[in-house]
Amino acid sequence: MKIACLGGGPAGLYSAISIKLRDRAHDVTVIERNRADDTFGWGVVFSNETFDNIAANDPASAQAIREHFAYWDDIAVHYRGQRIVSTGHGFSGIARKTLLLLLQERASELGANLRFQSEIASAGELAKDYDLVIAADGLNSRTRNEFAQAFKPAIELRKNKFVWLGTRQKFDDAFTFIFEETEHGWVWAHAYQFDADTATFIVECSEATWRRFGFETMSQEESCRTCERIFAKYLGGHRLMSNAAHLRGSAWLNFPRVLCETWSHENIVLMGDAAATAHFSVGSGTKLAMESAISMAENLASEPTLQAAFAKYEAARRTEVLRLQSAARNSLEWFEDVERYLHLDPVQFNYSLLTRSQRISHENLRLRDRDWLEGAEAWFQRLAGAADNTIRRPMFAPFRLRDMRLKNRIVVSPMAQYKAVDGCPTDWHLVHYGERAKGGAALVCTEMTCVSPEGRITPGCTGMYAPEHEHAWKRIVDFVHAETDAKICCQLGHSGAKGSTQLGWEEMDAPLQSGNWPVMAPSPVAWSERNQRARAMTRADMDRVRDEFVAAAEMAARAGFDMLEIHCAHGYLLSSFITPLTNWRTDDYGGALQNRMRYPLEIFEAVRAVWPAEKPISVRISANDWVGADGIEPQDAVGISRVLHEAGVDICDVSAGQTSIKARPVYGRMFQTPFSDRIRNETGMATMAVGNIYEPDHVNSILMAGRADLVCLARPHLANPYWTLHAAAKLGDRGEAWPPPYFAGRDQLYRLAGSGEPAPSAV
Ligand SMILES: Cc1cc2nc3c(=O)[nH]c(=O)nc-3n(C[C@H](O)[C@H](O)[C@H](O)COP(=O)(O)OP(=O)(O)OC[C@H]3O[C@@H](n4cnc5c(N)ncnc54)[C@H](O)[C@@H]3O)c2cc1C
Ligand SMILES: Cc1cc2nc3c(=O)[nH]c(=O)nc-3n(C[C@H](O)[C@H](O)[C@H](O)COP(=O)(O)O)c2cc1C
Repeated sequence: MKIACLGGGPAGLYSAISIKLRDRAHDVTVIERNRADDTFGWGVVFSNETFDNIAANDPASAQAIREHFAYWDDIAVHYRGQRIVSTGHGFSGIARKTLLLLLQERASELGANLRFQSEIASAGELAKDYDLVIAADGLNSRTRNEFAQAFKPAIELRKNKFVWLGTRQKFDDAFTFIFEETEHGWVWAHAYQFDADTATFIVECSEATWRRFGFETMSQEESCRTCERIFAKYLGGHRLMSNAAHLRGSAWLNFPRVLCETWSHENIVLMGDAAATAHFSVGSGTKLAMESAISMAENLASEPTLQAAFAKYEAARRTEVLRLQSAARNSLEWFEDVERYLHLDPVQFNYSLLTRSQRISHENLRLRDRDWLEGAEAWFQRLAGAADNTIRRPMFAPFRLRDMRLKNRIVVSPMAQYKAVDGCPTDWHLVHYGERAKGGAALVCTEMTCVSPEGRITPGCTGMYAPEHEHAWKRIVDFVHAETDAKICCQLGHSGAKGSTQLGWEEMDAPLQSGNWPVMAPSPVAWSERNQRARAMTRADMDRVRDEFVAAAEMAARAGFDMLEIHCAHGYLLSSFITPLTNWRTDDYGGALQNRMRYPLEIFEAVRAVWPAEKPISVRISANDWVGADGIEPQDAVGISRVLHEAGVDICDVSAGQTSIKARPVYGRMFQTPFSDRIRNETGMATMAVGNIYEPDHVNSILMAGRADLVCLARPHLANPYWTLHAAAKLGDRGEAWPPPYFAGRDQLYRLAGSGEPAPSAV
């Protein structure tokens, strides 16, 4: 077969090598516009574990590459006058130029033709002379543009500015990140050694900072001199060098995230950066390109037709590319939002940086560098007020809100049980909440407990509007206090337009088969076409509901609850005031966010006035309506929580969605945590994160990175009331107290968990 590899970067050269390795009979030509030793960029990094596939494919070139690797294990972070080093990360670096020369040599040795200084104007024209064109023409692929209709590329220019520089200053002991505060804003560098006397030095900043510096109009020379001034104290008098002669102006770029919907067209197939890019901060673009080249060569060898080979190549590589792009997105977004984290303590900042792509978990960090992680855990515990020298996972750190002291950071999230009778909790609730309080979570939150009969979601919802409710709740609270060291929070709410619906396990959110009651909301809205239209609330209605909240709070106080949560999420009454999707009022309670917040704030202030001063109040919000700009978006949630914080709300319980049937949520592990992170780090307000958090590792990384103060788990607690005690046993932590009658079970669990001798009883 006559094959052209368009582009002599890693993808083109490694395709030629991998194809020739499998069948020398193929006539393979690599066509490159530059000279053989002419290259932009400086070094590239590979993480150690990523080199195995490449070594298995071609031990000869892998060996040659390895011989030129600079290795290092440490990551050093310069931040606020400190240099924090952690180890065990395992990277290797090589000059891009050396890598390309080695690949060129190997490709020639295997019989590929290398044609340099040949510019290809059209892959379509080239494809007429070849059976197969592998379009490996890089980030700005002309082939991708030529056949854009077929490849359907999605190209997203990311926000930050960066420039790829080199330096003779040594960074040979660690992959180094440097964060510098300047008169124009923060600027940071990613630096790593790649051969005996040169290091890559990528400088990055926000576009605003870049403009304030005037980089836009600088030559490459001026830009290097300016960066030298910024990083003078780390450069030891060495210069910064640019080799981006192919770029105009100061050579600063915005990283383009590229993903093509289709990777082949007729006899042309996209490879490497031309098909998909991975942000440089996860250092995997070169590896991705080389592994794709292997996959294409394998399928070319095994499949009967080109089309079959293309289909299998794409199927095999797309998942891997998406996985890496997702990690790369987390990582690049962290750098885009880094100014949000620049108030963090250096320990926490470092942790946040190391775990930014979410590929490195808390326990994985322990495997890499136990000492560093334990130092960070000790810092966290100290800050939380634990006894001196405590080294425990962050989930087992105490927390205090007003006078309420929590033994750890786990919260049983509110979950409706639909088992009440006329609003009154039953024995089901006593057993249900009692079990969860015995299970080790520090705080158990009740289901949405409604302030009036009409304010219930379903006929099975609990209420707090009659003396018998107060008594039934008091029995539950008394049990929790007498028999456990958990605290209990009452979530108060009103269903609004989402009221008068069926039990959760019947048809959720659908109207009752019979016996519906009228519902009200800020505006005459209906949850869906099947639900009744709500009556728009009058001021008299608003006064009455406010008084009902106050009366319910007074009952909750008498019942002895430790905390209140006001439910302003999920499309229920107060949430429907906040989101513009359901609040169309033209009076003081509609329009701008400030107005839409007015009624929920009135409720909070009225409740706060009667709720004991030493006890905290939380507000649960929907931080994203998941409908785009028409609804609440995460940046609006920052505004909402700022208002709540200023009003004296102690903690924001950051949920999302359930405010519109048009919502298109993007689910995933910890999918709502970014909203909590943003609120906590942009407003300084304490937060609880919730949503698809189910592993102790999730909880620990969220807390340690400062993305939330408390972590709510809902469904995991339905499946296992003892989630926290089991997590502690599994992790070998003996510090959580078990109820004395269960000691024998505890000891067996400890033994089974293989974690040595049980701790002395300490309940
Ligand atoms: C700042 C920065 C830092 C990076 N750091 C790393 C890192 O540490 N680790 C890592 O793995 N990756 C890194 N990358 C990514 C890495 O450089 C790319 O992912 C990798 O080079 C992709 O290989 P490729 O062969 O697809 O494209 P390229 O390396 O871009 O090669 C494409 C080749 O095609 C040639 N070409 C293009 N058009 C034509 C034409 N019309 N005619 C003839 N020739 C043509 C070009 O001259 C070029 O040589 C970094 C990228 C950037 C921007
Ligand atoms: C059965 C069930 C009932 C729920 N009831 C409530 C509720 O009464 N109030 C509330 O704010 N959230 C309620 N939620 C939402 C949870 O508190 C939580 O936000 C959501 O389930 C996501 O967390 P998870 O992934 O840990 O389950 C409920 C969830 C479930 C599964």
